[in-house]
Order: sequence, then C-alpha cells, then structure tokens
Amino acid sequence: VARLPFEPHRVVRVGLAGVGRRQRSLLRNLLRLEGAEVTALHDPDPASVEEARAVIAESGSGQPAECGDFDALIGRDAIDVVCIATPWDLHVPMAAAAMAAGKHVFLEVPAATTLEGCWQLVDASERTQRHCVLLENCCYGYYELLVLNMVRAGMFGEVLHGEAAYIHDCRELMFRDERSFRRRAHMDRDANLYPTHGLGPVATCMGINRGDRLLTLASMSSPSRGLQEWRREHVPAGSAMHSETYRCGDVNTSIIKTAAGRTIVLQYDIVNARPYDRRNMIVGTRGEFRDSPPRIFLDGQSEGGAFADIDPYRARFEHRFWTEHGRSAEESGGHGGMDFLMLRRLIEVMQQGAVPDIDVYDAAAWSAVVPLSGQSVAAGGAPVEVPDFTRSGWREPRPGPWT
Ligand SMILES: NC(=O)c1ccc[n+]([C@@H]2O[C@H](COP(=O)([O-])OP(=O)(O)OC[C@H]3O[C@@H](n4cnc5c(N)ncnc54)[C@H](O)[C@@H]3O)[C@@H](O)[C@H]2O)c1
Repeated sequence: VARLPFEPHRVVRVGLAGVGRRQRSLLRNLLRLEGAEVTALHDPDPASVEEARAVIAESGSGQPAECGDFDALIGRDAIDVVCIATPWDLHVPMAAAAMAAGKHVFLEVPAATTLEGCWQLVDASERTQRHCVLLENCCYGYYELLVLNMVRAGMFGEVLHGEAAYIHDCRELMFRDERSFRRRAHMDRDANLYPTHGLGPVATCMGINRGDRLLTLASMSSPSRGLQEWRREHVPAGSAMHSETYRCGDVNTSIIKTAAGRTIVLQYDIVNARPYDRRNMIVGTRGEFRDSPPRIFLDGQSEGGAFADIDPYRARFEHRFWTEHGRSAEESGGHGGMDFLMLRRLIEVMQQGAVPDIDVYDAAAWSAVVPLSGQSVAAGGAPVEVPDFTRSGWREPRPGPWT
C-alpha cells in the first residue's frame, strides 16, 4: 500500500472510536475543517460521550449518531475513515476490524505494542487495500517540518545520526485514574512504551521506509524509581495502587542502526521530574540541528563552534503546511497547532485522492520499538533485528509525501 492513493472524497466522513481526552482534542480540530464531517461515534463510557457531545454542541455542528458498540460503528455506510483513540491494547483489533469492514483508519500512537500486532496491521492494510495512518502529530510540528525541508535541501550534508526522545513528566496523569493504561503498561514490561513522537520526525528526515529502513535495535533501562517515589508522596494510604509493582525502568535508552548505516538514539522517560523534550536532533556531515530550544550549527558558521538561532532560516525553509495554514493551526490549538495541521493534511490528501504521508509500514516500524526494546532490555541490551515490514519495498525512494 506504499503507493496506494485514497479514492477522492468531496467530504470525508469520520467515525470516532473512543472519545476520551485525546479524541476530544482531535474532534475540536476536525470540527473546524471544511471537508470533514463527524458522522458517528462510539465509547462505552457515558461521561466521555457526554463531553464529546458538549464539544460538538459548542461548535454548532450537528450531533453525530451514537453507536452502541464498535461493530455497529464500523458497519455504518456513512463513514470513510474510523479515527481510533482508545487504550493501547485495543488499537490493533479495532483497526484490523475497521479495515476489514472497508474503512480507512486513523490510529493513535503507538499503533501496536507487539510485533504480531504490527504485522496484523500491515497484513490487514495490504489485504483490504485500506490505509492505516498513524496519527503521529509531531511530524507536523513547526521545527520538525522546517528541518525536514532543510534536510531535503542538503543543508546538513549527508544525514548520519539522529537523537529523539519522549521526555514528559506524566506522573500526576498516571495516578489520576486507577485504571490508567499508561501506569498499567509500566507494570507489564520494561521497554520504551511510547517511541513514535520522537522517532517519527527523525525517521522522516532519514527517509526510513523510503530508501532506508530500521535494521537493528539495542536497548537498556535505568532502575525503576519515579513512580514509587511519587506514589509515596501523593497517593492516599489505603489505595490499591500502593500494592502495584512498576517493572519499567525510568529512563529507557535505545540505539537503532539503519540499513544505510545511520544511527538513532531514542529515549523514553515519563516518570521523573524533567522538562518536556522530544530532542529531535539531526546530525549530518555539514551541520547539526537540536530542538528545545531550536538551534543550528552549519559548516563554517562560527569559529567558536557555538550554536546559532535557526529563525533566520525560516524565510527560506518554512514548510508550506505552516506558511499556508499556520495561522489557523495556532488559533485551533492542539499541541501548538500540529494536531490541526496533521488532520487538515489528512483531509486534504483524502479529498485529492493522494497517498498519505505516513502509512501502515511507518506505523509498524516506529511502533515496533515497543516490543523490540523490551526484548533487548530483557537480553541485557543485546541487539535485536527490526522486521522489514515493507517486504523489501523500502529500497525504492518515494518522492511525494510531505510536499
Ligand atoms: N498523539 C498524541 O499527542 C496523543 C496524546 C494523548 C494520547 N494519545 C493516544 O490516544 C489514545 C487515547 O489516550 P487518551 O489520553 O485519550 O486516553 P483516555 O483514557 O482519556 O481515553 C480513552 C477512551 O477510550 C474509551 N474506550 C475504552 N474501551 C473502548 C472501546 N472498546 N471502544 C471504544 N472506546 C473505548 C474509554 O472509555 C475512553 O473514553 C492512546 O493511544 C494514547 O497513546 C496520543
């Protein structure tokens, strides 16, 4: 499905599976987009449905149909794409069922948490010829797209190395709800549980699955401390959460080698007191970009070797998505506008009958870091092979996406 265009749509009819915190944020953006119509939704939690209905009422749009179960949602005719934002273990069965029912899928991150799940998504997308697009919003961030344009223009020379991360203090969020899937995942395994926000943009700059691919991965974790410490100080005595054991090491660091020999360092830490950071570092033969704050060093720039402000490059390299729609994105909100731009682009691509920027092979390769890092940690950091989800298709460069 790497070159499979969407069939053109005048209006893209969207069904929502799960209307929790994330989906309601996506919904606010979808409701602002001409060319998108939310026609149905399903969530077993009445409070989530009520909150979604309030968001829709506030926008002045008509209320979508409410489906009693997921099968009823994907069985509806008036849906072109099912947007899935549910707990992680539901992603694969829901996405596969939606594709089997003839619907395209927008799927929240990570797409899958097992290698079998990654393959199920690839197989289902190929068998049904339906797209399974990973909703990796960070690929649509301002500096991520600016740097992508600079990479494509050769400003960094040959790209050799990247560093990426998901560092986000989620301790309060993880203990807010006793059933939190994020906290439960830290009980189940020791791995990088949320790799795609960091990896997606770096992989895009390296043309992963479009001329290169992720080949091997080695991973190690620090001790597990952050959740226990936070619980001791904040969770009321007597809560059942005090009996939980958190296996996941606080700071998980992986190194990935690509088929072309490039390297990527990827880190995950959501349980310690650290500033938010996706790092987003690109290193080439002629320069380097680092984010948070964004800064650049190019060959010949300064004798002292100090980083410089990247803003002077904005005029030349700002991505057209931001030039054309940045104002609407900032007004709309959602992670600084990247959510709006991602959804606007997806609706545009579906209306035009074009190929999506991110496909099921990207969803599988980026999400496979979850199980592969777990395997490598369990093996003392030994390298593990990344499956070739493209079945050799990665060898052919594919111009087009992100333009
Ligand atoms: N891309 C991003 O920036 C971003 C940000 C936050 C969350 N996420 C992702 O979004 C997803 C949801 O996260 P969240 O924070 O909204 O969690 P949440 O707990 O707020 O929402 C999950 C919703 O799924 C519903 N649900 C559970 N079982 C269901 C079923 N069988 N059918 C339909 N709905 C069901 C729940 O009732 C709940 O309303 C996760 O995959 C998460 O990783 C992505």
